Amino acid sequence: MAGVTRDGGASARGRVPLIAGNWKMNLDHLQAIAFVQKLAWSLKDARHDFGAVEVAVFPPFTDLRSVQTLVSADKLPIAYGAQDVSAHAPGAYTGEIAASFLAKLECGYVIIGHSERRTLHGETDDEVAAKTVAAIGAGIVPLVCVGETAEDLERHGASAVPLAQLEAVLESIPKGAEFVVAYEPVWAIGSGQAATPDQAQQVAAALRGAIAQRLGDDAAGGTRILYGGSVKAENIAGFMRQPDIDGALVGGASLDVEGFSAIVRYQKHVGV
Ligand code: 13P
Repeated sequence: MAGVTRDGGASARGRVPLIAGNWKMNLDHLQAIAFVQKLAWSLKDARHDFGAVEVAVFPPFTDLRSVQTLVSADKLPIAYGAQDVSAHAPGAYTGEIAASFLAKLECGYVIIGHSERRTLHGETDDEVAAKTVAAIGAGIVPLVCVGETAEDLERHGASAVPLAQLEAVLESIPKGAEFVVAYEPVWAIGSGQAATPDQAQQVAAALRGAIAQRLGDDAAGGTRILYGGSVKAENIAGFMRQPDIDGALVGGASLDVEGFSAIVRYQKHVGV
């Protein structure tokens, strides 16, 4: 396989792999402080090279200020972000959180268009695009989620829906803006049944092709594409060996410090 190294493919092509933990609606701010502290210790003990594999956590909104305070006081090399953002500037939008507020909390990233928001909150491709624009405008890197349901998979194959979802966003992304794509097949989320590395690679390659077509080869070559859906320490290595997969968006397994830390340290069990 072209471009694959002993460490997995991503770093060989200049894309720093990103292992991201989406906590969803888990862990309050006190639990968040304890978790991030333990994660930092665990990775430090293991001499993790944060420059080689970036680590990010996505706690609930109410935890972000606590995480910011801890990360900045202890200078922890852990990135963090929110799980959603408003498309609007500050104003009369009860319950929403503006991108500028997240920027004030020094969030590096924000997850946008997670399938749980698309399904449970009816988020449309247009809203996902508008939120992406808002994040970029505030200097936050959007982590845009795309993925097909089991029904989509049966009807249209794996790539069609994620591609259409990504294309709807690409139209709004200004040239030169950094963004991350997470391919998360809906049927693989929380099911214990991950996609195979080959399946995920095929879709990731198609997504990269769409980025190339819309924003050019440099953007396609520099954009990280993550896989998400039942990722755990036991299966991360297979995904990271794929040339177009540059990391993972981890749900359930990101809530256990040791398990998440083992996923971050996938290079130790990628077959070297
Ligand atoms: P699981 O890792 O629990 O399948 O969740 C994936 C996910 O939705 C991450 O955003």
